[in-house]
Amino acid sequence: MRTVVEGSGAQIAQNRVTNDMLARVMDTSDAWIRERSGVEGRYFADPGTTTSDLGVAAATQALESARVGKEDVDLVIFATMTPDYYFPGCGGLLQAKLGLRDIPCFDIRQQCVGFLYGMQLADAHVRAGLAKTVLLVGAEIHSGFMPWTAAQFEYLYGRSETPPTAEERAWNTRFRHLTVLFGDAGAAVVLKAMDCDRGVLDQILHTDGSEYDKLYVPGTGFAHRPYTDPEQFRRGDHIPVMDGRAVFKMATTRMVEVAQELLGRNGVKTEDLALVLMHQANKRINEYCQKALGLPDAKVVHNIQKYGNTTAATIPLLWDECARDGRLKPGDLVLMVAFGAGMNWGATLLRA
Ligand code: ACO
Repeated sequence: MRTVVEGSGAQIAQNRVTNDMLARVMDTSDAWIRERSGVEGRYFADPGTTTSDLGVAAATQALESARVGKEDVDLVIFATMTPDYYFPGCGGLLQAKLGLRDIPCFDIRQQCVGFLYGMQLADAHVRAGLAKTVLLVGAEIHSGFMPWTAAQFEYLYGRSETPPTAEERAWNTRFRHLTVLFGDAGAAVVLKAMDCDRGVLDQILHTDGSEYDKLYVPGTGFAHRPYTDPEQFRRGDHIPVMDGRAVFKMATTRMVEVAQELLGRNGVKTEDLALVLMHQANKRINEYCQKALGLPDAKVVHNIQKYGNTTAATIPLLWDECARDGRLKPGDLVLMVAFGAGMNWGATLLRA
């Protein structure tokens, strides 16, 4: 049995935020953000919209496009690093909101590689005969990580006349290398067990936990007693810490290595590939990988300029865009590659 992507869907958050809008609450510029990351805009969700809500909307579309009924879904895998609650995870919340049967629902993290880890988990269930129809969802509300207040969000959107104070602006600016990169979105695929030559062909996943502190959230965890307190918020420990240069270097090295490892062991040449879907953390990372792998522009898809980094939603979002605009056709050979916090990285080779 092969694990075949039979449908996809995506839900982008409500509010488009340009780089110039971000410059209303911190010291940054459109020129810096475009040049260093490739991001031109991102979307932030309205207060009250949760990660599971974006996941439910994306999953609804995915079920429609796969022509699969809710009663047929026998496994949910939900990847996110920004769950609605500390626990329970978003898998069960999505199951209840969608009205699925009481099937098993996995909650996984793995950050920017969450979707690829989910693909391997789904494929293993299909091959073992444990699942026939899997709903794999990646969704994130990164706007919760933003250091500014609800009132400053209003100023950023142009709905308030009150700018941040100099002190607030300096606080926001402290996190600018991180906050300008991320956006909110959800995306989902329906994976079906099928006896055919399409579907997942091979996958490789890696983790190196020794570098976890290059990108992590130091506060609000059970390394603390209590796990959260006002002191952590005063220090800003609820906001991710990122050594951008170290992550950039690891991403370019590891993504190229794992792509070459996977293509090599399957005897696939880059010219055999129809499309390469790379995680979208920084356009410069992907341009470096594209060059190192010798891929022509026509085979590499970018959407970071529109959405920023949407972490676990990124790769299914790329898939959904390509499937809907005709860039992805049944039978196409597709390579997915990702790197992210953990550190995790991996690649998936599949036939659409
Ligand atoms: N606006 C204006 N200036 C800025 C901004 C900003 N938003 N951010 C940083 N700067 C300034 C810095 O203060 C610094 O100024 P200085 O030279 O006066 O000290 C200068 O720009 C250079 O800063 P760097 O951080 O060295 O800039 P760099 O070129 O490395 O770009 C970036 C930073 C975009 C974060 C890059 O390192 C990157 O993309 N790294 C990888 C990110 C990534 O892959 N994350 C993993 C995925 S996320 C996940 O897994 C959850």
